Amino acid sequence: MYAPRIPRTTVVRKLLRLARHPIPTFTQYGREYGANFLLHVGGERITHFTTDAEVARHVLQRNHRNYEKSEIQTDQMGRYLGFGLLTNSGNDWLRQRRLIQPGFHRKRLAALTTEMQSVITEECQQAAEQPSIDLFRFTRQLAFDIIVRALFTDGFGERETRRLHSILDKLQAYIIYPIRLPMLRRPLRWAGLERKHLALARESRQLVQRHIDRRKLRSTCDPAPNDLLQMLLDSRYEDTGEPMEDRQLVDEILILFAAGYETTANALAWTVWLLLRHPTEHERLRTSEEPGYLTQVIEESMRLYPPAWITDRVALGPDTANGFTIDKGVTLGLFIYGIHHSPQYYDEPEAFRPDRMHPDAKQQRHPFSYLPFGGGPRLCIGQHFAMLEMQLALRHLVDHYTVEAVGELPVPEPKPYVTLHQDRPVRVRLRPRTPG
Ligand code: HEM
Repeated sequence: MYAPRIPRTTVVRKLLRLARHPIPTFTQYGREYGANFLLHVGGERITHFTTDAEVARHVLQRNHRNYEKSEIQTDQMGRYLGFGLLTNSGNDWLRQRRLIQPGFHRKRLAALTTEMQSVITEECQQAAEQPSIDLFRFTRQLAFDIIVRALFTDGFGERETRRLHSILDKLQAYIIYPIRLPMLRRPLRWAGLERKHLALARESRQLVQRHIDRRKLRSTCDPAPNDLLQMLLDSRYEDTGEPMEDRQLVDEILILFAAGYETTANALAWTVWLLLRHPTEHERLRTSEEPGYLTQVIEESMRLYPPAWITDRVALGPDTANGFTIDKGVTLGLFIYGIHHSPQYYDEPEAFRPDRMHPDAKQQRHPFSYLPFGGGPRLCIGQHFAMLEMQLALRHLVDHYTVEAVGELPVPEPKPYVTLHQDRPVRVRLRPRTPG
């Protein structure tokens, strides 16, 4: 049985709305057609959209060998961000994943706690010296500086850090246009924008390469830094015993940046905003003795506002997922935001209720009804890193500062770029709390 198909005329009529406001458009289609529906997006390409946790489990885990990421997530993003884990596929991906995975083990990451904590302490202090700050700018800089420090504990340099951050922001903002509106690809090229962004991508590679070279020249008498770069440099392929080539190393580092800071920054910004909007939960977090409550708050925030709000896969061969026929070549649009907001899995899905993330409550739900970090073998490699970073940052903010909105707290709508932003600025003030 095929999922119901949305008539092409309906799609064409709503194309602009779909490009501008994909979340409400998909949500409305879901209401009208059900948790699975087929959609023509441009030309002959058919996408099977789903908010069905069982279909997601089938595609990401049960029969993952039949599915690969689309060329949007591999070739198109890879042109600018390089071919690291996130944009790689097939055997190459598996070889890289095996190599890198041990470095992201929870125990290995514990060694980075002190580094993370010192960036957090420093940047909160600086923020508290300002009369007010833009929340997302603050979390973005924090998350960027944390990943820089985790990769290069011996320093990347203030000016070069800012330059790399600015380039990656520009690349992420640009990439979305040719993806959303493929008809823009040629005009963007004619306008010279493609060339400009490819030049920025080259510059970012050179910046990273310089720091790799510097590390390699380090005197062997000094103790090796215990950071992610060193882990990548020291790792060896199982089959050949060889280390990664520099080109691949640069790709992997750039992908850790690209995948790691905007996602975390968005999750942190939404979480702080939710706490400002929900004083009872905020107070409970501040006074709570339960260590797990902080995790529940972060998890519930990422349910409502999953930074990675959608992902895709293409079927390599014909298949059936939860009773639905999937033809070879069909793209699966796994609408993570839609799954997280589905009344099928969550009562009053729009309500912020950290208690639903209590381990006992989670046990009762479909394991693929909550996918902020994806699922199956391509599960986010930075999951523990991100959770550690967010826990440290929020704990520090809540324990040491009173965070308050400047003026009336705005109610931002989620704005889907590559990750899920807030559609308007939220200004806050950090006031140091006096102990006792
Ligand atoms: C709240 C923060 C984060 C969220 C919500 C998030 C979300 C995700 C999701 C959903 C995927 C899977 C995409 C798919 O299967 O199509 C993914 C993959 C990935 N993430 Fe994250 N991520 C976060 C933080 C990080 C951090 C901090 C790092 C690195 C330090 C990172 C590195 C990666 C990489 C390398 C992949 C590709 C893994 C692979 O395909 O083998 N992420 N992330």
